[in-house]
Amino acid sequence: MTAVSSTANTESHASVLHENRVFPPSAAYLAQTTLNADTFAQLKREADLDLDAFWSHRARELLTWEKPFTQGLDETQAPFYQWFADGTLNVSFNCLDRHLGTQPDKVALIAEADDGSAEYITYQTLYERVCLFANGLKSLGVVAGDRVIIYMPMVANAVVAMQACARLGAIHSVVFGGFSSKSLAERIIDAEAKVVITANIGYRGGKPIELKKTVDEAVAQSNNLVEHVVVWARDQTETIMQARDIWWHDLTAQQTTDCPPVWVSAEHPLFILYTSGSTGKPKGVQHSSAGYLLGALQSFKWTFDQQPNDVFWCTADVGWITGHSYVAYGPLAAGATQVVFEGVPTFPDASRFWQMIEKHKVSIFYTAPTAIRSLIKLGADLPAKHDLSSLRLLGSVGEPINPEAWIWYYNVVGGGRCPIVDTWWQTETGSQMLTPLPGAVATKPGSCAFPLPGLSINILDEALHPTAPREAGTLVIERPFPSMVRTLWRDPERFKTAYFPEEFGGRYVAGDSAMRDEDGYFWILGRTDDVLNVSGHRLGTMEIESALVANPLVAEAAVVGRPDEVTGEAVVAFVTLKGERPTGDAALEMIKTLKAFVGQEIGAIARPADIRFSDALPKTRSGKIMRRLLRSIARGDAITQDISTLENPAIIKQLQEG
Ligand code: WT7
Repeated sequence: MTAVSSTANTESHASVLHENRVFPPSAAYLAQTTLNADTFAQLKREADLDLDAFWSHRARELLTWEKPFTQGLDETQAPFYQWFADGTLNVSFNCLDRHLGTQPDKVALIAEADDGSAEYITYQTLYERVCLFANGLKSLGVVAGDRVIIYMPMVANAVVAMQACARLGAIHSVVFGGFSSKSLAERIIDAEAKVVITANIGYRGGKPIELKKTVDEAVAQSNNLVEHVVVWARDQTETIMQARDIWWHDLTAQQTTDCPPVWVSAEHPLFILYTSGSTGKPKGVQHSSAGYLLGALQSFKWTFDQQPNDVFWCTADVGWITGHSYVAYGPLAAGATQVVFEGVPTFPDASRFWQMIEKHKVSIFYTAPTAIRSLIKLGADLPAKHDLSSLRLLGSVGEPINPEAWIWYYNVVGGGRCPIVDTWWQTETGSQMLTPLPGAVATKPGSCAFPLPGLSINILDEALHPTAPREAGTLVIERPFPSMVRTLWRDPERFKTAYFPEEFGGRYVAGDSAMRDEDGYFWILGRTDDVLNVSGHRLGTMEIESALVANPLVAEAAVVGRPDEVTGEAVVAFVTLKGERPTGDAALEMIKTLKAFVGQEIGAIARPADIRFSDALPKTRSGKIMRRLLRSIARGDAITQDISTLENPAIIKQLQEG
């Protein structure tokens, strides 16, 4: 990995480099916050003094243990760090049981379906539903340590399934419902999953998603690993059931609502979540039980400054880390009320989010820049038609937010009264790392502000010196923290090389480039590796290239990103075919075929926005594809790179026209 690289992203987000507006928290906000600049400074001091004691203190205060731990951080196996390792607890107990004494009737989930119907589920009811289902899983022979794949729509039962696994100590791996059967099969095989939980059908934007059918295809490709498929009947849609399939309602029909939690060690894996890297297959990011939950809960409380009457809404699907930490775990551990939404922001029209904020009196709203940008495009005036006065805090996550979208979010959605927390973190960090604390820090549009207390985040140059203000460098995390990735599932070697490269001396390297301004605010500039961020979703260029060359017509493919107004980045594929290079209608037809092919291989999110054909790819004499050149071509820029090492310079013209 190169330490400092001027990637496509760095250039594309140049606008943030000129941003200098500052928005201090309003007096009205400060009047109701519990976390101000003083508390923040105090927390920082405590963490600086003794990191281990700082996190141990939080772990004792915020989590309920079966057996208390005696040691905080254990670095003896670095970089395989452990936290609170001799303590035992249960994550589901921490999310559910411990609220039953104090707030059994508080609404935990407001689950709104695609069609607009809503269900209100209290902590007591959620607890019972989790216990029933956990007992059902138990009756199928699921025990602690077994892997269970969850391939569900974004509904309350997706959360129930995750919590039920946690209750039994079973390791879940949620796969986003948009992934193809092939991607699903890959994950089933890699995790060696015994059970798959799905729904007969899902709905997004009024369109049916055939989850069960995809599971059938995936299971058929999975070497007979899967013993049972549990199917939740989303509706009456006719469904072909096979011998290994069992309906959710049949599985739970004879069960009781009493399911004692299985106590596990703090380091017991809670889940595996697959994410894209720059090379090879998706990585199985493995998270712990206690450290992960502590990170999710503590950051939820700090960043969202959570108060008892808040209605929280994170729009992420549980198929992504955001939906794990800020839907399935953090808010429940905090005893919060939250909205869970099955549908999409644009159905039945582009006011869905605003209408739902009004209807459910949402006070904290957490979404992705892509959603904001697409809603600006589809109806910048729509928020004004709704009563959004319940909002007090806004959040952004997943990709850099451009200042223009930030300002619109702030003024039009937040009415100029709600701070925006722009949170930088990753699947691997498990919880938010950089963010303004809303009552403590003035915000700047496009900046993730500062590390949360207890995190030592730095930006280094190639000599491992902190970069000067406004100088780009590599974002690293210097010290371990509780919610960090523990390893890659069954691939400890890749864990070490991917995140702790030798040249960074034991530091965690995030894969992003960043800079600080004169006030020390962090600004994320983009990935330093071959990972794209399309609509806040991570895609490896190599994964898409492999998908393309799996098509018998394709000889070679190179994939790069180009900036996109709505999705942040868009996938551009340069392809050479085995046969003749198509032109005109034949080319259009071929583009359609290949886009659909990538959709089938990986999932719709990976479909290239552009495909261009040429007789060859631009390579150096040593045979390396010149990606930087392709990036310039993809965005239609003038070629400024040195092309003297290019073997076939004549190809450039064809690529530009392709
Ligand atoms: C990558 C991680 C964070 C959970 C969802 C995505 C980019 C994430 C921000 C932000 C700028 C961001 C980074 C990071 N990213 N949040 N607020 N500003 N960039 O998790 O799929 O693991 O992706 O998303 O490039 O490395 P992920």
